[in-house]
Order: sequence, then C-alpha cells, then structure tokens
Amino acid sequence: MTTRHPTPPTTDDDWWRSAVVYQVYVRSFADSNGDGVGDLRGIRHHLPYLRDLGVDALWLTPFYTSPMVDGGYDVADYRDVDPMFGTLADFDRMITDAHALGLRIIVDLVPNHTSDAHPWFQAALAAAPGSPERDRYLFADGQGPDGGLPPNDWESIFGGPAWTRVPDGQWYLHLFDPTQPDLNWRHPEVREEFLDILRFWLDRGVDGFRIDVAHGMIKAEGLPDVGFNSMTTGRRQSELLGKGRLPYFDQDEVHDVYRAWRPVLDSYPGGRMAVAEAWAETPQRLARYIGPDELHQAFSFDFLDATWSADSFRKVIDTALTESTIVGAPTTWVLSNHDKQRHVTRYGDGPQGLRRARAASLLMLALPGSAYLYQGEELGLPEVLDLPDELRQDPAFLRTGESRDGCRVPIPWDGELAPYGFGPPGGAPSWLPAPATWQALSVAAQTGVPGSTLELYRTALRIRHDHPALATDAGEVVWLDTDPGVLAFRRVAGPAALTCVVNLSGAPVTIDGYGTAVAASAELTPAGTGHVLPVDAAAWFDEHRPTGGLTVGSPG
Ligand code: GLC
Repeated sequence: MTTRHPTPPTTDDDWWRSAVVYQVYVRSFADSNGDGVGDLRGIRHHLPYLRDLGVDALWLTPFYTSPMVDGGYDVADYRDVDPMFGTLADFDRMITDAHALGLRIIVDLVPNHTSDAHPWFQAALAAAPGSPERDRYLFADGQGPDGGLPPNDWESIFGGPAWTRVPDGQWYLHLFDPTQPDLNWRHPEVREEFLDILRFWLDRGVDGFRIDVAHGMIKAEGLPDVGFNSMTTGRRQSELLGKGRLPYFDQDEVHDVYRAWRPVLDSYPGGRMAVAEAWAETPQRLARYIGPDELHQAFSFDFLDATWSADSFRKVIDTALTESTIVGAPTTWVLSNHDKQRHVTRYGDGPQGLRRARAASLLMLALPGSAYLYQGEELGLPEVLDLPDELRQDPAFLRTGESRDGCRVPIPWDGELAPYGFGPPGGAPSWLPAPATWQALSVAAQTGVPGSTLELYRTALRIRHDHPALATDAGEVVWLDTDPGVLAFRRVAGPAALTCVVNLSGAPVTIDGYGTAVAASAELTPAGTGHVLPVDAAAWFDEHRPTGGLTVGSPG
C-alpha cells in the first residue's frame, strides 16, 4: 500500500483513516455463472478494474446464506456463503487475490436481526412462551383483553407495525421486515455468538466490518410507546431517523456492545476496523460510536442528505470535522449507497444531476478522512426510476410504495445488449433490467474517454493518493473567502497545498490565484490569468504546479 503514497500519511494499521472504500452490492456487480445474479467470482474477476480505479478497499454487502427477502440483510447462517453467491472457497480465493492487489476487504455484519429462517428463530417458534429459545429474540404478550393488539406502537422502518403475532398468541419484534426478527442484545448468548462471528471472518482475513443498523441493537427497557405512528396519526416514526429520539434506536447501552467488540478487532494484526451505519439524533450522538474504544468510523449521512447549496454543504462539513476532531477519529463521507437514491438523480437527474454529482464527488474526495463510493457512481449512473413494479424486490415496496431497487440495477461493463457484460454471453437476463441508455455508460464505453465520469474518478483518485495534501486524514480544511454560493477550501501538508473550488452559485464564476488546475468536473475556460468555473462544477488547483496540465474536462 505504502508505495501508492509518496508520503505515507499514517501507519499501515491506520490505512482506513483516509481510505477510499468501494461498496460492492454483490447481487448487482458481476455475474460469473450466467444466472442473472452477481457473485463472488464475478467480484474476483473484476478486482483489477477496482485496483486501476484507485480505491483502497471494498465493502461487500451481505453474501451469507439467506432467503434474500431483504437482499441478504436477512441472514440465516452468518458463517457461510449463500449458494447464489458461491462458496466459502470462492470467498477465500477472492480475498487472497484482493490482498495480492493491495485491496482490503470489508464485510457487512447484520447484528440487529436475523432471518426468520435462522435456526435460532425456528427454535424460538417451536418453543413455548417464556422459554430460553424465545429469550434470544424480543417476544412479548400483546395488549387488550385477548392480547390481540401489539405490545406497543412501534413501527417497522419498512412500514406497518413492528410486531407480528405467532400462533400461540405472543408477538415478536421486527424493526424491518416480519422475516427479520430483532435479536435480544441483553442476552449473553447473543453477545457471545457475535463475538464468535467476528472472529470467524477475521480469521478468514477480512480487514473490517460495516455494521448494519449499528444504532439498533438495544431497545429501551419496558419497550415504551413512541406516541405516534402512521396508523394512529399518519406520521411515520421513521421520519425521526437521524433527527429525533426513538426508544428502539441509539440507546446508550448499545455502546457496551462496541466496547466489547473493539478488543477483538484490536487483537488481530493489520488494522482491522469497523464502520457504523448509525442514525442518531445529532452529530454529537453519532460521534459517540467512534473512537479508540468503540468503532472506527460512522458514515456522515448528513453529507449525503445535504441539499445543493454552499451553506448546506459548508454546515455539514464543518460539523462533521468538529465532531471528528473531538473524538479523534476521521470523518467518513458518502454520497450514495444501496439504500438511497443515486446522487445523480437526487441532484436533479439528467445533465444537471450528472454535472452536480461529478462536482460533489470532487468535493468529497478533496475532504480529509475516508470516502465511500457506491458501485456505479464512478460511471455516473442515475437511479432507474421506471422499473416495472412486478420486478421490484425491495420488501419495503409492498408496505410503503417506496423502493430501493432503482439504485441496485446491475453494473454495465461492456457490449451493446443488456445486461451489458454483467453476465457471460448467453446468460440469463439480469435480476433487474438495465435501461438501454446504459450502453453508453458502460465501463468499456467510458474507458479512455477524456472527460468521462469514469476517467474523472480515476484522475481524482490518483491525485488523492499521490498529492501530499490529500493523502492524509489530518490536513486541515482552510476555508477561503469566495463569492456567495461558491465553496473553496485549501488542504495543506508542509509545502504542498491543494485547493478545491465548487460552484453552487447558479452562475459561472471567475476564479484566480489558486494555482494550476489539475482536475475539473467540467470544462474550465481561461479568463485572464484565471479561469471561469461553470455552474455546478468543481475543480482542484495545485499551487505549486507551475505549468498547465488539466487532466479532466467536461462530461464526454
Ligand atoms: C440497513 C441496510 C438496508 C437493510 C436494513 C435492514 O439499513 O443498509 O439495506 O434493509 O439495514 O437490515
């Protein structure tokens, strides 16, 4: 790894502090056997692509044995690979090859709930109320004279009540789909089991874990009502995610779990890490998940949620930087993932959305800390908004009408016919169809094309690795005075300095004095000694690079 950093910013154990991590949604990355579904061998074949893209690590979404009701976030066996994705031997070969290429592997851990097909839940169903088998989950008696009403007013994130009744009359809690029963994290056996699962994957060489619903495992004692839900008042409890307090999320006791996990991670060599998918009321509460005795990172979803304005980005960046300084952990930026509408579409879709997405990516990659990319964002893929309803598979769709399938459409690699090289020639259609417009967005169609989104990412990632002012999580962000609606900040490391300028002002701006443009999300036009930065564009400037040499221009 160190050879890729001319001035290594951190020790090798600290690789994650400034890493660029590429999220692989396994079902939709590459299909090696022609069944229409991505798999571990498909990932293995495409590792050189990811190395050449310039990322440091991959995060793989769950590939464990699962009925796949929630795309694998419903795990039936935490220690095996689902046959749909391959075998443990395929995993071992994949991680060996990844490490040989200098790529680290982060796997997804789903501790809040199991699948209802998990042997523990099957045993709980077969056992009587009050049995030790039921005690590993959250079973409770209902309300009302015959217990026919749920134990409280909690609502599933996927819509509808968070409780389902079993034939003997008890109810069990599921904060997500009914097939995803929540575990009882006050049970010692549950805690032991997950310590063992961590060790299982650490022993297989994984470099880290992405912790699913990391804020969810502990529920408030007595399971108190929230006070409203969409059935009673029409207001969904999930509106409070990341904005308010809920008795089933972000309970103080959850931190005990991570304090028990950290020594396990630290007992392995090579800087094994964990990143939290956590939603908390405030950035301050989110920061409590990270630090030397808990998890290493927590996604800054406020950055993902920022609206397209200089004030909005400035505010979330400043807050995240302040919080991370307080806890001594780097910031963790993300613009897209498998649960959110792709950022091209969030920012307006079409040419405007793409322009803004490219600019936002340059902004993110110039910030200190770690950045997570979601597969396909390097191709500028938009959300697929017109998938036929009958093909949608997100369990939330039936309950809420909202579906996350549009960001999960398989990656276009090459060729003229769908699924554009996602699977071998003559294979089954991909599990979700790729739109015809994606032929022009494929990896092959963008490779070597100046100004393509793929080449923009390659350039930005190369500069980020090589430039001393970016290849560190420690470099300050020094904001510069600019026109309203324009963000400009400098990153400095010793004599090296790089300035990132983003134009969110709605009109072209003339900029001067920042140095030589080394990357730009859109064509810059020379103006006097400076440049005109178009609307919705970003550029990086190197003060110490004397001659011209812009490496990326407008979208191809
Ligand atoms: C997380 C995952 C999401 C999944 C949910 C339940 O939010 O990112 O995809 O549906 O947890 O496991």
